[in-house]
Amino acid sequence: MRLDSHSWFRTDPNQVKTALDELILADGLDVIFDPAASHGAWMVDARDGTEYLDLFSFFASLPIGFNHPGLEDETYCAKLAQAARVKPTSSDIYTQAMADFVRTFCTTLPPAFKHLFFIEGGALAVENALKAAFDWKVRKNIAAGRPDSLGTKVIHFKWAFHGRSGYTLSLTNTFDPSKTQYFPRFDWPRIEAPGLHFPVDTASLEAAEAAETRSLAEVKAAIQANPNDIAALIIEPIQGEGGDVHFRPEFFKKLRAIADEEEFILIFDEVQSGMGLTGRWWAFEDMGVEPDIFSFGKKTQVCGIAATDRLNEVDSVFQVSSRINSTWGGNLVDMVRSERYIQLITEQRLLDNAKAVGKYARDRLTDLAASHANVDNVRGRGLMCAFDLPDNATRERVKENLLQEQKVIMLASGQRSLRFRPVLDFTQAHVDEAITRIDRALQST
Ligand SMILES: Cc1ncc(COP(=O)(O)O)c(C=O)c1O
Repeated sequence: MRLDSHSWFRTDPNQVKTALDELILADGLDVIFDPAASHGAWMVDARDGTEYLDLFSFFASLPIGFNHPGLEDETYCAKLAQAARVKPTSSDIYTQAMADFVRTFCTTLPPAFKHLFFIEGGALAVENALKAAFDWKVRKNIAAGRPDSLGTKVIHFKWAFHGRSGYTLSLTNTFDPSKTQYFPRFDWPRIEAPGLHFPVDTASLEAAEAAETRSLAEVKAAIQANPNDIAALIIEPIQGEGGDVHFRPEFFKKLRAIADEEEFILIFDEVQSGMGLTGRWWAFEDMGVEPDIFSFGKKTQVCGIAATDRLNEVDSVFQVSSRINSTWGGNLVDMVRSERYIQLITEQRLLDNAKAVGKYARDRLTDLAASHANVDNVRGRGLMCAFDLPDNATRERVKENLLQEQKVIMLASGQRSLRFRPVLDFTQAHVDEAITRIDRALQST
């Protein structure tokens, strides 16, 4: 028996793609990530050392730049290694490491959020938010003497992205139909998304207000058409995949009021916007409105939901055993890493950094728009910034040029936007570098 080597294979960086292509659809970026050499906001290709400016951060899931010195802390590394050795079923077997994480995670929560549930994957976080809402609404119906067959529908928005699993497939409707087509879906009410166009001026404000009025009328019509059957309304505080669509706080306030009046659960999906990207732990904190449940994932490393006591108006999924559960109950390694990220974000004041550098990025993008007629609708909250190009083909050309020629990894958003999703310790110097390279890509396409 060989015990001296931890690995049967030592794949050469140049063979990674071939090895993967044999068995999986390896159609991701043409970059082989070198975790040791990558640093800060620079991702290094293990094949030839090429450095890419990372505006993508693993689809907005990496909170802090590569190899931050705070991640070298000895106590943390030992705790991480210990958690990585054995994967306990954290829904049933508890550890000190889990309690440390839960207590740390609580420091990010507004006080009303008193209940947590953890699971692996953002879509499953959303699924469990929906299950918590269905359970709540059906129990409300039963208590009021109504049939228990009601409480089955979810109001959601055009261009929403909430994941690609079971229930979430009925909500997700971005521009790429391949994400949902041919899969069975529920026909739940879909509402116009009343996004703002930037810069906000009288015309864009009037257009947004008119769109909000239409959306709210659609919400009310959906409630009337499905009496006592609406369990929840779900919305991203800022739509991510659907095109960086920003809404006015006034709109969220009206949704909050309808959720209270019409007795359904208001869910905010913070999987992409949460954990500091907007300069607040949670994007909704800037809106002056709290949901009943919010889902989190990506930068939080471990995914899940947080809920208020409104859920406990009935015997909720947070009180009745086994209503929502999974084998792993989240992943302990992710919990330990998340705890450290939260400490670092707090100690290094990275929420403030996201706000300040995000504003700088918006200003620089606005300058860019002034010198490129085809750049429009510069928008952002904290570091969650984006801009539009005239059409899908132009956007794809610019994105490709950024990757191949300018060595910038930047994500598409919606039909014709490019988005910033950098790490929270992104600096003004990084922004300057990004703008120089975007400028070059715009000039050469
Ligand atoms: C807002 C939002 N919700 C849910 C998801 C799904 O998360 P996951 O891909 O981890 O299942 C995403 C992923 O991009 C997202 O942006």
